[in-house]
Amino acid sequence: MASMSHLIAKPAPAATFPLSSPRTSSGFRPRRVTVQRVSCASPRGGERSEQEAQKHDRRDVLLGLGALGANATATLMSARRAGANPIATPDISSCGPADLPPSANVLTCCPPPSNALPVDFTLPDATTLPLRTRPAAHSVTADYVAKFNAGIAAMKALPADDPRSFAAQASVHCAYCDGSYSPEGFPGVELQVHNSWLFFPFHRCYLYFFERILGSLIGDPSFAVPFWNWDAPDGMRMPAMYADPSSQLFDPRRDGRHAPPRLINLDYNGREPRFTDKQQVDHNLRVMYRQMVSLSPTPSLFFGSAYRAGDEPNQGPGPVENIPHGPVHIWCGDPNQPDGEDMGNFYSAGFDPLFYAHHANIDRMWSVWKGLDARSHTDLTDPDWLDASFLLYDETSKLVRIRATSVTVKRPVAVQRSKAEKASKEEVLVIDGIEVDRDVAAKFDVFVNTEDHAAVGSGGRELAGSFVNVPHGHGHGHGHGKKGRGIKTKLRLALNEQLEDLKAEGDESVVVTLVPRQGKGKVKVGGVKIELMH
Ligand code: C2O
Repeated sequence: MASMSHLIAKPAPAATFPLSSPRTSSGFRPRRVTVQRVSCASPRGGERSEQEAQKHDRRDVLLGLGALGANATATLMSARRAGANPIATPDISSCGPADLPPSANVLTCCPPPSNALPVDFTLPDATTLPLRTRPAAHSVTADYVAKFNAGIAAMKALPADDPRSFAAQASVHCAYCDGSYSPEGFPGVELQVHNSWLFFPFHRCYLYFFERILGSLIGDPSFAVPFWNWDAPDGMRMPAMYADPSSQLFDPRRDGRHAPPRLINLDYNGREPRFTDKQQVDHNLRVMYRQMVSLSPTPSLFFGSAYRAGDEPNQGPGPVENIPHGPVHIWCGDPNQPDGEDMGNFYSAGFDPLFYAHHANIDRMWSVWKGLDARSHTDLTDPDWLDASFLLYDETSKLVRIRATSVTVKRPVAVQRSKAEKASKEEVLVIDGIEVDRDVAAKFDVFVNTEDHAAVGSGGRELAGSFVNVPHGHGHGHGHGKKGRGIKTKLRLALNEQLEDLKAEGDESVVVTLVPRQGKGKVKVGGVKIELMH
């Protein structure tokens, strides 16, 4: 899910919890931690008609690229590779009944049907969709609050069968948590976006489209949702704008004891701690340090356990998904509701506007964590993580399949080179480890710095070049039998002129997108890099 990093609306902000192990000698004794889980209904996949779930089991081409520093891995695939099983949401018409608690006042979590096939996500054009910067919810201006209110009001005013409506958006969360879907190809198995490595990428994608919808409804494409800065002392209360009963951001189904100025307890377990405010803040900072630093030394530990199509759901959450993610949900939900609604239960959590601020901070934790150690805190590189895909509606009510489709490739030079330097050395995009069966006609195009490759016209400078395989026979002595059918090759594309034309010569990196055109799924790509060559 390499392109996920492009979705983040805010550049990585500095962490606010202490970055060295906090002292424990202040007379304050750390409490034993109890992990509090937000309940998420159990699968009910078995009750769904298998036929129905399989009806749309169509596997289109996945093009996944993972950023591995200067060396990216790309995989073009259609049929499932052996040992490669990324989770994919099947056609939404296979969405089935959710496993809701008896008290639930919703009947279904399925999104409104789409009469068109999903389109693959591409990065939006930066000129029409500017970079959005998410503000901390406790430090926004009155103007911002008014705008945000107007946006939520507009979403709430749309009918529930409009995928942009607040009700439909809130239901997205329920559908992906309460057993409405099965991973493509595995009818009867629950698709679950919690308790595994899908947690961060799913919620990033979900929030991303929620934010785009909100911005488009108020005519401000630069509008960004706020983040609840619960990791910083100033943000450890429910942000005031959500607690105002006259606001669109208010939800009566919350724990009344936790309205401001009550400080949140980031490892809340249903009981009120007997802390002074100062102790509570110290405690929260220790919790953050433990979850983000001590317990998260590697990508595999930070993101949570691998979860592939065919696996049982709930393979195991990462430290941040456990705490503070879970306790914050439960701290907000109303203990007097039968199932902790709204925030205290996943099926209803999306109905509280506070959910999106909570998750904007969870999303921020992903980027904060990466910033803590640029060398070892990297995204996962497992293709099954990179290729996992979700179906979500965008701000034009278009159904989008979002997954990794492009990769940022670092240039060997990050400065404008002189004419002489350029003449002596060409900057070359190298796509290596290309594997294709020699008897298969195959073609893919390589685009540079385009958010919308479909819009690039003939002769458009964003098209760097193409790979083509013309079917051909085997040489004598080698190449008989299955193994020998494949060839391994690479593609080298000169970039000097293109970078000039795209005015990208001063940039540190370029975004590369591979678009399969022919022989989809029959080509594999090993890596993408840029080198200087004579
Ligand atoms: Cu999808 Cu905070 O939960």
